[in-house]
Amino acid sequence: MTSQVSMTVLRLQAEDVQTLKDGINFKKNPEDGKCYIIYKAKDKLRACRNQCKHQGGLFIKDIEDMDGRTVRCTKHYWKLNVATMEYVNPPDSFMQDELEAVLSDTDGSLELVELNPPDPWTTEPREAQELHAGEITLTYITHACMELKAGNKKMMFDPWLTGPAFARGWWLLHEPPSDAMDRLCQADLIYISHMHSDHLSYPTLRQLSKKRPDIPIYVGNTSRPVFWYLEKSGVNLTNVNVVPFGVWQNVDDHLRFMILMDGVHPEMDTCLIAEYKGHMILNTVDCTRPNNGRLPHGVDVMMSDFAGGASGFPMTFHGGKYTESWKADFIKNERKKLLNYKTQLVKSLQPKIYCPFAGYFTEAHPSDRYIKETNNKNSPVDLNDSIRKSCPNTLTWTPLPGSVLDLALVLKDPSNRSAITEPPNITKIYKDTWDFDLYVDELNASISAEIFKHKSWIQHYYNWAGFKGYNLVIRVIETDDDFKPLRGGYDYLVDFMGLSFPDTRPEREHAYEEIKNRVGVMRHVVLNGLLWDDLYIGFNNRMSRDPDVYHHK
Ligand code: FES
Repeated sequence: MTSQVSMTVLRLQAEDVQTLKDGINFKKNPEDGKCYIIYKAKDKLRACRNQCKHQGGLFIKDIEDMDGRTVRCTKHYWKLNVATMEYVNPPDSFMQDELEAVLSDTDGSLELVELNPPDPWTTEPREAQELHAGEITLTYITHACMELKAGNKKMMFDPWLTGPAFARGWWLLHEPPSDAMDRLCQADLIYISHMHSDHLSYPTLRQLSKKRPDIPIYVGNTSRPVFWYLEKSGVNLTNVNVVPFGVWQNVDDHLRFMILMDGVHPEMDTCLIAEYKGHMILNTVDCTRPNNGRLPHGVDVMMSDFAGGASGFPMTFHGGKYTESWKADFIKNERKKLLNYKTQLVKSLQPKIYCPFAGYFTEAHPSDRYIKETNNKNSPVDLNDSIRKSCPNTLTWTPLPGSVLDLALVLKDPSNRSAITEPPNITKIYKDTWDFDLYVDELNASISAEIFKHKSWIQHYYNWAGFKGYNLVIRVIETDDDFKPLRGGYDYLVDFMGLSFPDTRPEREHAYEEIKNRVGVMRHVVLNGLLWDDLYIGFNNRMSRDPDVYHHK
């Protein structure tokens, strides 16, 4: 079985993108002569190969179609609605394989991306066998951490059981079951979906490594390695396995799993299909477009994120349009869109059971009260209500920490109340203490590091980061916890055009950003060569920018 790969099959420059008309566009790749169809709607682009599913015929515009959404095959006259990617003639027959249309924020170009093979789980198919009670159970632990017991194997997903994520910005909402760490230590294998610290939790792995340094951990072969920081972290894990995308990994005779990439962030995000005796569990975790939107239909269990709010935008921005009411409207609309998207996804895939998870974090530290009050998230209950209305055949599950779902019992009788075991009534569900000082002090220990006594660290650091040749000037201000400039803290300019550190802004026209960073987090990030995700996703900075555009290179 060969590994799944992601390929750009057509690239259009910004000028060509601007000439795309509303509705159907036919395009040809001048390099290989292959043809594509791009459908432009008000707020999105969809694309596919110009190749009929029947016998590979070429599509042309369907002159009978008044809405401008349908193309007609020149061979035997099948018809495809490119707005939905459904074949309308023969009706209710096939879906066209869609390409990912990736529009660049920076240069306005468009890439059509294809995953090959598109549906690798169909290789070596296994018939679903009858299960007996207790043969497959899912136990929700916390956030994105779920324990799958299949036969006599236990697999744990994304264990974040202790400590914060994104420096000091995210804290666990749920109290993990009291035996969670023991369960983790006893797992047969662990899947970690991506490098973000609410999935790859070094405080959790540090504890685990003391008991089971050789526990098998599986990650996808992303171009940005999940465990890039392992050596430096000092955590001793000796059995990390990087596996190719789209290839079954056999755990035993009955259990196997496959890691798939995300269509939008293939360099970083992954999702998982675990299969036991032909029963599939699909965990799309945080993927924006898991496996480019092509996923197995009718799986036994599907779980995905639901909450939103996993970014500093727009809460940490100020100035210009970023008033409180603009932010509130934006957040409300975005959350609504996410809820609709998840509902539609579940509706199209028709899993037997759906479980929202991977959204149970809180901005618990008192210094982040503003974020906590503004960063409203979707409720799993609201999502499940919406799903039940759209997909009456899907059973929804909103688990509490320690809730156990017995798949065999649900499949046999979805109304069987004993198929799901809830934790005892006295169980503490929500965390109310987080050991803030332990973790914040650890970060703040970086403040007094010797290197920061010398202003030259600034040049060393940005030279090491190596970003330049971009017409952007930033002003970075070190602050206290409340984003007040710190006495004795650094306040400096970086000009990324030629990577210089001027005292005043240059005369030429340039994009400008002012970034206030909490000193402890900033220095911890600098000292350890970490990603600025800790600052940005962890709400540890405040930003204003002129012009108000997203910079990316
Ligand atoms: S090849 Fe398209 S209808 Fe036959």
